[in-house]
Amino acid sequence: SWTTGSIVEEQVAAIRAQIGSKRAICALSGGVDSAVAAALVNRAVGEQLTCVYVDHGLMRKGETEQVEKDFVAATGAKLRLVDASERFLDALAGVSDPETKRKIIGREFIRVFEQAQAELVAEAGAAGEDVAFLVQGTLYPDVVESGGGTGTANIKSHHNVGGLPEDIEFQLVEPLRQLFKDEVRMVGQELGLPEEIVHRQPFPGPGLGIRIIGEVTRDRLDLLREADAIVREELTAAGLDRDIWQCPVVLLADVRSVGVQGDGRTYGHPIVLRPVSSEDAMTADWSRLPYDLLARVSNRITNEVRDVNRVTLDITSKPPGTIEWE
Ligand code: XMP
Repeated sequence: SWTTGSIVEEQVAAIRAQIGSKRAICALSGGVDSAVAAALVNRAVGEQLTCVYVDHGLMRKGETEQVEKDFVAATGAKLRLVDASERFLDALAGVSDPETKRKIIGREFIRVFEQAQAELVAEAGAAGEDVAFLVQGTLYPDVVESGGGTGTANIKSHHNVGGLPEDIEFQLVEPLRQLFKDEVRMVGQELGLPEEIVHRQPFPGPGLGIRIIGEVTRDRLDLLREADAIVREELTAAGLDRDIWQCPVVLLADVRSVGVQGDGRTYGHPIVLRPVSSEDAMTADWSRLPYDLLARVSNRITNEVRDVNRVTLDITSKPPGTIEWE
């Protein structure tokens, strides 16, 4: 039978056999899949693995620190942190269209990651070592959806990094290919990853960039991060983390409404709460959160987050509404 311990042992042996004495790279996203995949490979080959984390500045409060401190503390993995927030914000300046935002964030992410990768390959090469493997947190449902192929990834080296071959070909290491999400979480737990990583709710790759309706600016990101942190804190305090699928918190940055706060009239932005329950994110229903909890969240956000004077609740199922607003 498949105990979590035996999955770990089996995978560690398989990873050692695959990687041998070569080196591997893993992109951490902050999500559970890449974290567990990296932790497994680290358990198997330790020093031979380098994790790369691109901070695009669109993460929620504490998430980068979670990777930087908690993940490293739990695994001992070698981590390279690339702070690219300035670059992403520059690229997003003046952009409000959702698809354009997504394209820009995706494009910049690939560029920054490839550059980091190329640098690592160059450094290893200078030391006479080979980087031959790219670790990915592909799960069983992803394998089925994409037709079951396995193999290699072609990464174009960045033109700023001199002296590299045109294309670096990596073999993929995908230790989660036979697992479902709940098994991945159990493996993560077995490997000692912190609860916040193992039970993290789904979070989109483009991050808070697609939860600001309107242009993405540093100032707006700061507002949204504060509001989102309050929502997460209150959901946790109410013991409801595992009852909901996820709860996007959205800033309507291009909308203002009149309010009255303290001594006077305000003209601030609304925050939208989007708690949903779902099995697979393909369909979803809005979560019937307790009124007391909603009242606490509303009070705290309007009191603690500057420029926000209204909190609204999204009561749309999916379909017709998607889970994210963009
Ligand atoms: P929608 O908004 O399409 O979202 O109902 C369905 C699920 O997918 C997540 N999502 C993303 N995840 N990259 C991701 O890794 C993305 O670009 C992305 N967009 C949406 C969303 O949070 C929800 O769980």
